[in-house]
Amino acid sequence: MITKRHALKLAVALLTSAAASAYAADTGPIKIGLILPMTGQSASTGRQIDAAVKLWMAQNGNKVAGRTVEVILKDDGAVPDATKRIAQEMIVNDKVAVIAGFGITPTALATAPLATQSKTPLVVMAAATSSITQASPYIVRTSFTLPQVTVAIADWAAKNKIKKAVTLVADYGPGFDAEKFFDSQFRLDGGQVLDKLRTPLRAPDFAPVLQKVIDVKPDALFVFLPSGQGAAFMKQFAERGLDKSGIRLIATGDVTDDDQLAEMGDVAIGVVNSHHYSAAHPSATNKKFVAAFEAANKFRPNFMAVGGYDGMRVIYKALEATKGAGGEALLNAMKGQVFESPRGPVLIDAQTRDIVQDVYIRKVERVPAMNNGLYNVEFDVIKAVKDPGKQK
Ligand code: DHB
Repeated sequence: MITKRHALKLAVALLTSAAASAYAADTGPIKIGLILPMTGQSASTGRQIDAAVKLWMAQNGNKVAGRTVEVILKDDGAVPDATKRIAQEMIVNDKVAVIAGFGITPTALATAPLATQSKTPLVVMAAATSSITQASPYIVRTSFTLPQVTVAIADWAAKNKIKKAVTLVADYGPGFDAEKFFDSQFRLDGGQVLDKLRTPLRAPDFAPVLQKVIDVKPDALFVFLPSGQGAAFMKQFAERGLDKSGIRLIATGDVTDDDQLAEMGDVAIGVVNSHHYSAAHPSATNKKFVAAFEAANKFRPNFMAVGGYDGMRVIYKALEATKGAGGEALLNAMKGQVFESPRGPVLIDAQTRDIVQDVYIRKVERVPAMNNGLYNVEFDVIKAVKDPGKQK
């Protein structure tokens, strides 16, 4: 009995003293703890963000405020208990100034209390459930939220002759957000959601839900699945003949992921979706980013890579402002940053610590000018979107 409570108390005490001493030695390296799924089902997220962090450092150097920056990368396999254990080791033993990464929502939520207790800024580069930034005042997000990108595709659907829809989402936090915000916006626009389907986060089987969609026969199927599941879904969508059924596929850009578009092939062509980043975003900043990323890696950057790249930007600028100091000062220096990301202009909202950004409506097309590859080609934009999940 004692042991468990005792262990917890000890952990809190260690965390508190770690926070107090971490920045005492201000001549050594500044450490960034990067926790990512490098193995398992979400490994593509880890691979993308790791590559983007390395690119940021190759372009911007490893010195901030005269001190060396050291990134400690650890694989959590997207298992929340592992994330939490690794974060604790990084805070207590390595005395990191910031923890960053967080491939899926449960890993960010599991670690949030440690950020609060130790006053360590936690930068979410991937996970996208709206409520994450409310789990600790030390959390800052550079990815996106599902409500932020979902409202736009619901509006687009209602304006484009889609009257009846079915939703299909992964059965956890970001899926619930997508389902809820698609439903409420689409109904507000006069549409009707005939059914709400969910698939498990781990090892989803799309056959039963796709059969349901065939039976219900909506005008459109709206889908959210986390990065890495889009290609498997598209394959089954085509195998069951849904691409020729007259049921339109619409989605968040997580499904038509730049990381997997090439694998999906022609079935993806014409899928309209909404998201905050496309590798085909036609800005000079993005063209430079994509060219450098592709020169350094054998793959295209996706939205996860941009979340990681911008996360490093936010951390570097904040460290410059505090001259390497961490804790609350570092957190405060992250708030309110405005900059031009490869995705477009962004703001770290000082009140919510969440990212404000443009959301694009895109269509998957073959682009002759880009090696005839499949891309999400932007054709409309909603400027400076705040997370609607927090506008209560
Ligand atoms: C989350 C993970 C993803 O891969 C994604 O595309 C969106 C959200 C998440 O777990 O929050």
